[in-house]
Amino acid sequence: MSKSQFQAPKGTRDIMAPESDRVSNLLSIFEETLNSGGYGQIISPIFEDIRVFQRLGDSSQIVTKEMFDLFDKDPKNPQHLVLRPELTASICRAFTQHRPVTPWKVWYQGPQFRYEKPQAGRYRQFLQVGAELLGSPDPHADVEIISLASRFFQKAGLSNTKLLLNSLGDAETRANYNEALIGYLNLNQADLSEQSQNTMLKNPLRVLDSKREQDQAVIHSAPVISDFLNDDSKKHFQIVQKGLSMLEIDYELTPRLVRGLDYYTKTTFEFIAPGLDTAQNAVGGGGRYDGLVEALGGPPTEGIGFAIGIDRTLLACEAENISVPTNNIEIFVIDTTGGDEALILSDELRQIGFSVDRSFDQRSMKSQMKAADRSGAQLAIIIGTDELNENQVTLRDLRGDGTQIALDRQSLSKALPEMLQEMTK
Ligand code: HAM
Repeated sequence: MSKSQFQAPKGTRDIMAPESDRVSNLLSIFEETLNSGGYGQIISPIFEDIRVFQRLGDSSQIVTKEMFDLFDKDPKNPQHLVLRPELTASICRAFTQHRPVTPWKVWYQGPQFRYEKPQAGRYRQFLQVGAELLGSPDPHADVEIISLASRFFQKAGLSNTKLLLNSLGDAETRANYNEALIGYLNLNQADLSEQSQNTMLKNPLRVLDSKREQDQAVIHSAPVISDFLNDDSKKHFQIVQKGLSMLEIDYELTPRLVRGLDYYTKTTFEFIAPGLDTAQNAVGGGGRYDGLVEALGGPPTEGIGFAIGIDRTLLACEAENISVPTNNIEIFVIDTTGGDEALILSDELRQIGFSVDRSFDQRSMKSQMKAADRSGAQLAIIIGTDELNENQVTLRDLRGDGTQIALDRQSLSKALPEMLQEMTK
């Protein structure tokens, strides 16, 4: 096949059936899970004022290097916009704008954009689902958020995901820890990669996130934040852990877990799928961000949330051989009398809830039969000249032994549900 003139842009892809059936399935599992927790959907703009994300801090690569810029065409208001790289900042922007009653519990789904170096499981446009809970400092809010993400993976059929858990403490903890970490990194600066030496000056914590081989020995012996948690942060973290245990949600304490965004305080977590390539095995992550709403000009408001990458969840489903729930056609209408009967019957049956397909272009009986077989339908409804004259239809079982029976056209809609049920037994 010759290469087409246009390809999907670098780092993007077309997701088609049956893979897109799995996406739909995951999205509905997610929606059901979050609705069951009293979260309402929020649909926010795909682009935002660049400053909404700049508030996330300039030591995060997502903010400094990975945003897709746009400029408003209005010469009087040449606003600098970006395609959103994530949704937590947008949700906090919406919160400061609308001031809803707290606790405010929302879920979302949609594409995010990051100018990354594409590879398997890492795209420039990717689909996230997520949830945010604003306005509660209660550690049980953390447990609820983590449990909803965990139940989603469970309902999706994944058994090989692992929850990594950490606490970054509050502002006081962070200040004490930063001081110790800076001291340690300064002493060991010569052994760090050049990139990490630069990161160290902007945000020492992010050095711990480096995957570079050269940095690993220094990272391995660095002080850990769990030794610096003050009483309040320690108590909060203990209640979170106790809550997870009460819900029988397994976790692994990971004191060096650092997330790619700078807004986190206290609880942070990541779900990994160990079956995937380690570089891209985080299928979801989140944490508390008690200062973000304020940084965006809102009142002091605590927040906790998570986002799950659907593209990586698809890869994890594949790695675990979870079968795809395909959107199969139930009935195929074969009409050799010109097509009007197929038109009317397909519409009639779709209206009462069946999934129905048909051929176009007045194909031969043989060609329509082939299309019916290919469609995966359980049943073919055949209308030829004889059937039309006698006001009948012929039903043919496409998956069993090919049994055919004639049925009165008028009684078709009534008889079908029971017949299909009988066939799929
Ligand atoms: P994040 O860790 O940047 O967190 O992204 C969450 C998930 O999105 C990742 O675990 C991964 O599965 C997926 N993901 C991220 N980048 C890519 C990419 N380039 N290609 C494919 N999948 C990707 C956040 O976005 C935070 N907003 C999460 C959060 C919500 N924190 C608090 N509330």
